[in-house]
Amino acid sequence: MTAPSVPKHIAIVMDGNGRWASKRFLPRIAGHKQGVDVLKRTARACAQRGVEVLTVFAFSSENWRRPAEEVSALMDILVVALSREVNQLKKEGVKLQFIGAREGLSERVRKSLQDAEAETAHNDSLTLNVCFNYGGRWDVVHAAQALAATGEAITEESLSRKLSTFTSGDPDLIIRTGGEMRLSNFLLWQAAYSELYFSATLWPEFGEADLDAAIQAYASRERRFGMTSEQLPQSGSAA
Ligand code: IPE
Ligand code: IPE
Ligand code: MG
Repeated sequence: MTAPSVPKHIAIVMDGNGRWASKRFLPRIAGHKQGVDVLKRTARACAQRGVEVLTVFAFSSENWRRPAEEVSALMDILVVALSREVNQLKKEGVKLQFIGAREGLSERVRKSLQDAEAETAHNDSLTLNVCFNYGGRWDVVHAAQALAATGEAITEESLSRKLSTFTSGDPDLIIRTGGEMRLSNFLLWQAAYSELYFSATLWPEFGEADLDAAIQAYASRERRFGMTSEQLPQSGSAA
């Protein structure tokens, strides 16, 4: 079965901001700021193409290891971007959701995430999940703890229901920009059957043509989920 031409759920590891800035002799923060603009444009482009859910990796559990000034600048960029952009997102029908451990974030950051979620909760053109203070291992452990607390039997289904992405489902396509070929603790469980696409483009330079190239690559993949080609419903193209 050839995958439907447009993935319903795209996830992106937005990587390469620091290198983009360094190439221009700018501070790394300039790359992160540019990255916010690119995210806005990418979300719009996804909605226009019929993507229903976009999940992006904005700050990992491991990114706390960066220099304190970079970490605090990333927090500021998030708060400022939310205060500037929420009205526009609301107009465009984007539902913003934050995924990740809220503990560990300052009161100010937590409040800004909560407000943005509340403001956009009733939107339904595109769901934009922003993984912030997120790690795939955290997600699985957190789900296991929540499940254990209920006393329910532990199965793949019951554990999946406790994952932070449960309402969005698993990503069909995971894109990583910036040339590295690793997941860096992103959506480990949910990536089990995602199609992976690695782009050498640095995130601040990622444009519609790059997005279309990723979607096109996705459309040409055969998603077999363990079966053989012959078992799949008619495909239209040979594997
Ligand atoms: C991704 O860009 C953004 C975050 C991890 C917050 P990087 O900051 O990792 O950029 P590179 O990989 O150093 O170029
Ligand atoms: C992954 O990028 C995290 C985000 C994009 C938020 P990193 O730049 O932190 O990943 P590593 O350290 O190169 O694996
Ligand atoms: Mg990086």
